[in-house]
Amino acid sequence: MCGIVGYVGGQSALDVVIAGLRRLEYRGYDSAGVAVLADGGLAAAKKAGKLVNLEKELVERPLPAGVTGIGHTRWATHGAPTDANAHPHLDNAGRVAVVHNGIIENFAALRAELAGRGHDLGSETDTEVVSHLLAEAFSSSGDLAESMRQVCRRLEGAFTLVAVHADEPDVVVGARRNSPLVVGVGQGESFLASDVAAFIAHTRSAIELGQDQVVELRRDGVTVTDFAGDPAEVRSYHIDWDASAAEKGGYDYFMLKEIAEQPKAVADTLLGRIDAQGALTMDELRIPQSVLREADKVVIVACGTAFHAGLIAKYAIEHWTRLPCEVELASEFRYRDPILDRRTLVIAISQSGETMDTLMALRHAREQGAKVLAVCNTNGSTIPRESDAVLYTHAGPEVAVASTKAFLTQLVACYLLALYLGQRRGTKWGDEIRAVIKDLSQIAGEVERVLETMEPVRALARSLADKGTVLFLGRHVGYPVALEGALKLKELAYMHAEGFAAGELKHGPIALIEEDLPVVVVVPSPRGRSVLHDKIVSNIQEIRARGARTIVIAEEGDEAVVPYADHLIRIPATPTLLQPLVATVPLQVFACELATARGNEVDQPRNLAKSVTVE
Ligand code: AGP
Repeated sequence: MCGIVGYVGGQSALDVVIAGLRRLEYRGYDSAGVAVLADGGLAAAKKAGKLVNLEKELVERPLPAGVTGIGHTRWATHGAPTDANAHPHLDNAGRVAVVHNGIIENFAALRAELAGRGHDLGSETDTEVVSHLLAEAFSSSGDLAESMRQVCRRLEGAFTLVAVHADEPDVVVGARRNSPLVVGVGQGESFLASDVAAFIAHTRSAIELGQDQVVELRRDGVTVTDFAGDPAEVRSYHIDWDASAAEKGGYDYFMLKEIAEQPKAVADTLLGRIDAQGALTMDELRIPQSVLREADKVVIVACGTAFHAGLIAKYAIEHWTRLPCEVELASEFRYRDPILDRRTLVIAISQSGETMDTLMALRHAREQGAKVLAVCNTNGSTIPRESDAVLYTHAGPEVAVASTKAFLTQLVACYLLALYLGQRRGTKWGDEIRAVIKDLSQIAGEVERVLETMEPVRALARSLADKGTVLFLGRHVGYPVALEGALKLKELAYMHAEGFAAGELKHGPIALIEEDLPVVVVVPSPRGRSVLHDKIVSNIQEIRARGARTIVIAEEGDEAVVPYADHLIRIPATPTLLQPLVATVPLQVFACELATARGNEVDQPRNLAKSVTVE
C-alpha cells in the first residue's frame, strides 16, 4: 500500500520524486517523505499527513539540489502516522536513508540486537532497523548494493526496500520480496517505483523484478542480482499505458473517468481473444491443455470486488463446463484446510496483482499441487508472476480505490475462461461458444447505453444523501451484483449498506424493512429463468408493503415490476449470465454520486488503500 519512488539521472531528484509520489497517492497513505543526495551528504524531510504537508515543509526548509533521491508515501502498519514514523528512515550518522513497503516480521529481534550495539532507534517502525543494518554493512562492504544483499538475507517477511548512501551519490539500490517494485529505464536516468504510474511521464521502458532480487540503479543503467549476489534474469517490457491514462481526463475524479472507460475496457479485454470467425483464441494462456481437461474442480480465490467477480464467474463456469466451482475469500481460504490436489484449477482474481491475502492463498494452493491461473490487470505484478498462467484484463490503470472497470473486465475474463474450459472439455460446441461471444461483443455498446441514461440515478443518489442505510437484493447472478453495490456504497459513502440474496429476506433481513428505507433490487431477466423473476417481483411487493422505498433495476420491456417500483432503472436486455455487466453500472454511479453529495473524497476513501499488500 505504500508508495515508493527512486531516481538517479540528470533532473532534479526532488522534482521527479515528488511528482512520482503524487501519481501514487491513490495507493492510500497517511504520511510522506523524501531524501536527496547532494554536496557529499544526505538530506531528508518527512511529514505526517498528505503530500501537501511535506511540500510546505520543503518550502520552509528546502533540501539541497541533487540528482539522486528517494521518496515514500506511507500507509501505517507498525507505528502511528507521525513525522517520526514517516519514511525515509536514517541511520544515526545520517548517511543512509531507506524507504520500505511491507512488513519485516523479525524486526523486534533485529531492533534489540541493534540497540545492544548502541544504535538509537527513534521510531516505532519495523523499517528503521534496515537503515541501521545497512549502515553497519556498508562500513565493511563499502558498497550499498552488497550491503542491501547482506541485510535482505537477514530479513523475514514481505518487503520492498529502496535506499541511498551519501558515500555513493550516483546510486539508488532497491530490493523486493513479496512486495511490488518496478524499474524504469530512461535516457541517462533510471527510476524505481511501486508501480509504473510514478514514472510513465518519463519513460515507458520497464524491467520486471523477480522475487528476492536486488537492483542497483545508476544513470547509465541497472544491475540486478539475487540476494546471494549472482546475476539475475529479468524481463524488460513496454508500458502501453500513456501518461494521460493516469490523469483524470477532465473528470472530477478518477472513479468517474474509470466508470466512463468501462465500454472500452470491456472491448479491450476481448481484443485478440476472438478470431475472425468469432471463435475463442486463447493462445496466450500458457497452461497445458491436459490441466484444463483433467481438472475436476475449480476454486476461485479473491478479495472484495474481485471476490464478487468470482461469485458471478461461478455461475458461468458451472453452467458452461459442469465443473464444480467453489469461490473463497482469499483471507479465509488457506485457514480452512481446503481440499486441493493436482486436478484442482485455482483461479486467483486480482486487479492489482499485489493483494497479499490472494497471493498467500495461491501460494498455499500451489504447495498443495494445484495449478493456479491468475486473472489480473497489472502486468508484471506478483500474483501473475507466481501463477502457472495468467489472463490479463485490459482495463488500463485503475487509480480510484473503488474498483469499477477492473470489475467488469474481471467478469469478461472469467466468461472467456469459462467458455475456454467448456471448449477444451467439449461441454460447449463451437457454435454455442460463438453465440456467447457474439453477445459479449455487444456488451461494450450496451454499457455505453446505460452510461447515457444515468442522470436520474445521480439525482436519486443525491436525494438519498442523508439516509443511514440502503439494502440491496438480488437473485442468481444478481445476488453478487447486490453484494458489489453494497460494497461500493460502504467504501464510498461510509454508510451502512448490505446485500442479500432476495430469497433470504424472509429468513431474517425483512425485519430490517421500515418506512422509506431505500432497497435496491436487481431483477433477473424474465426471459431467462421466469421463476426467478416472478419470485423477486413477489419480494419487491413484500418489502414495499412494509414501507420500503423500492429502487428497481430491471431490463427494458419488463413491465411486471412497474407497479412496485418507486424508482425504475432500466438496463438493456442481455442473456441471463451476462446481466451483471450492465446491472452493476448504475450501482457504481449511484454510490459515487451519493458519496460526492456527502462531500467524501471519492478516489481515496478513508482508511482504504488501492492495493492491500499486507495480510
Ligand atoms: C473494491 O472496490 C476495493 N477496492 C477492494 O475490495 C478490492 O477489490 C480488493 O482489495 C481486491 O483488490 P485486488 O483486486 O487488487 O486484489
